[in-house]
Amino acid sequence: MSQPLNQLSDRARERIPGHIAIIMDGNGRWASQRRLPRTVGHRRGMEALRSVLRTASRLGVGYLTVYAFSAENWSRPADEVNTIMGYLTRFLRTEIPELNENNIRLAAIGQLERLPEKARQQLDASIQSLSHNDGLTLVLALSYGGRQELVESMRRIADKVASGELVAEEICESTIASHLNTHAMPDPDLVIRTSGEMRVSNFLLWQISYAEWVVTDVLWPDFSGEHLLGAIETYASRDRRFGKV
Ligand code: IPE
Ligand code: IPE
Ligand code: MG
Repeated sequence: MSQPLNQLSDRARERIPGHIAIIMDGNGRWASQRRLPRTVGHRRGMEALRSVLRTASRLGVGYLTVYAFSAENWSRPADEVNTIMGYLTRFLRTEIPELNENNIRLAAIGQLERLPEKARQQLDASIQSLSHNDGLTLVLALSYGGRQELVESMRRIADKVASGELVAEEICESTIASHLNTHAMPDPDLVIRTSGEMRVSNFLLWQISYAEWVVTDVLWPDFSGEHLLGAIETYASRDRRFGKV
C-alpha cells in the first residue's frame, strides 16, 4: 500500500481519530463459509490485525483498542478457547520486532488474571519490551467485559469511601473514569464493528458514550488497511454534536 495518508481526502486527513476501537468479529463465519474449522478464521484474524495495525500507525492514530476476547468468550468450547490463547501468545511473541520498528506501545485491558499463565507472562514481557516506544498504543481487550470493568471500579471506589479516602458526594464522572482499566487513555472517537452485527457485546460501555460507529459487513479476516481508511472517511464526514446544536 502507498503511504496511507495520501489515500485520504483532505477532510479525513485533518480528522484522524485519536482513538479507534474495533470489535473484530466474524472469524468463525469467515471459516464456515470456506468449510474450514473456526480456528482457521482466528488465525487469519491475527493476520488482519497485523495489516490494520500497520496502517493505523502510519496514519498517526494515537490509540487502537481491539476487542480480541470477551469475558463471555470463555464460555466457548475449550478447544476453541485454547487455540485462540495459543495464537494470541504467539502473536505477542513474534510481533515484537515489527511493533518495535513501528514505534508501537502495547497495553491490555480486561480480567487478565483469567488468562492462561503462558499468555499472561508473554503479555507482560511484550508490554515491558515495547514500553519505551511513543507512537501508537495498541490496546488489547482480553478477557474484557465492560460491565465487569464497571463492577471492579465501583468496588475500588467503595473501598476508598469506606476508608475515608473519598467522600461519596464528591464522586463525579472523572472519579469513575479514573478507576477504569482505561484510565490512562482518551475515550474512543470511532468504534468499528465488522461482520455486520449491530450490537455492543459488552465492549467499553462507559467509554463509548459519544463515539461514532461504523459497522461493516466485511468479516474480520477480510478487513484490511484499505477498509480502515474507508471507515475513517466515513467518520470524517460525520457531524459530532455532543448534544449541542
Ligand atoms: C471474533 O470472531 C473473534 C472472537 C470473538 C474471539 P467470532 O469467533 O465471534 O466469529 P463469528 O462471529 O462466530 O463469525
Ligand atoms: C465480541 O464478539 C467479542 C469479540 C469480538 C472479541 P462475539 O462474537 O463474542 O459477540 P456476540 O456473541 O456476537 O455478541
Ligand atoms: Mg462473533
